[in-house]
Amino acid sequence: MAQGLKVLSAALPQEVKLETRSYDLGAQRWHATGDTLPDADLESLKDHDAILLGAIGDPSVPSGVLERGLLLKLRFAFDHYVNLRPSKLFPNTPSPLAGRPDIDFVVVREGTEGPYVGNGGSMRTGTPDEVATEVSLNTAHGVERVVRDAYERASARPRKKLTLVHKNNVLVHAGHLWKNIFDRVGQEYPEVTTDYLHVDAATIFFVTQPERFDVIVTDNLFGDILTDLAAAVTGGIGLAASGNINPSGAFPSMFEPVHGSAPDIAGTGKADPTATILSVALLLSHLGYGDEAARIEAAVAADLAERDAAAPRTTDEIGDALAARVSG
Ligand code: IPM
Ligand code: MN
Repeated sequence: MAQGLKVLSAALPQEVKLETRSYDLGAQRWHATGDTLPDADLESLKDHDAILLGAIGDPSVPSGVLERGLLLKLRFAFDHYVNLRPSKLFPNTPSPLAGRPDIDFVVVREGTEGPYVGNGGSMRTGTPDEVATEVSLNTAHGVERVVRDAYERASARPRKKLTLVHKNNVLVHAGHLWKNIFDRVGQEYPEVTTDYLHVDAATIFFVTQPERFDVIVTDNLFGDILTDLAAAVTGGIGLAASGNINPSGAFPSMFEPVHGSAPDIAGTGKADPTATILSVALLLSHLGYGDEAARIEAAVAADLAERDAAAPRTTDEIGDALAARVSG
């Protein structure tokens, strides 16, 4: 977070006055108070132009408490229906696909529906006859707005290609809702080339033919899984940035690295701040500072080009180097 803010300050034009407020959220607060995201914090967060969220999670907190009580609560409360996750393979980046040209795609992951809504339950819990259900919620309203956003993004990119990823050979109800809306909205974007892949087949192409992708639109859970795979083939989760966007602007959008908090290396200075810094670029771009965002991305590309795996730098050193490139 410190490196992200450092680069944010370095990137902003002189005349822009940055006002920040820091919120103490996460494992330490939960241990101290039992709170994850109190209503007062949620209310006051609404007044900001954007939120930069540090990676959360700690093994000392029961699984799900911070994920649902903090991260998902923010995404749902602020209606972050576009979860934007770009993947780009920068030169000289360690990757199983290093040297492959033109891996540059963006996953538009739905952020407020699907199996993430917590709709389900269990019966006869703890018995051999236990039954658990996890119901995926898909509404025409929710699907159409994210599909439309993905078409807009595809239309604005040079290749203008949009792939829907789902599993409509098995998940017939939700799958057909997605496919029908995808096809109908697509009639308004004749310039966009479309494609459909089942999610299992998509995982193959992420590894064997990632250059075939430009924009991908998919549901919340498929998007979660696919974007970890996308990160793994483009330099690792330490580089993966994301935006949780509310395109209407009714609530602040939120930017965060795709990765967790890496508690095993906390305090060692080994964490790579690049994913947070690239999330700052997404934040700037969302707020209309496209040139500043591009400068951060160029700084990261130049920095990666010179990285030497045999001489790793500290978190601070990487942040300083990127801030210097951005302001220089
Ligand atoms: C992510 C994370 C979250 C998700 C978890 C922590 C709830 O994995 O941002 O991808 O599943 O969305
Ligand atoms: Mn994830």
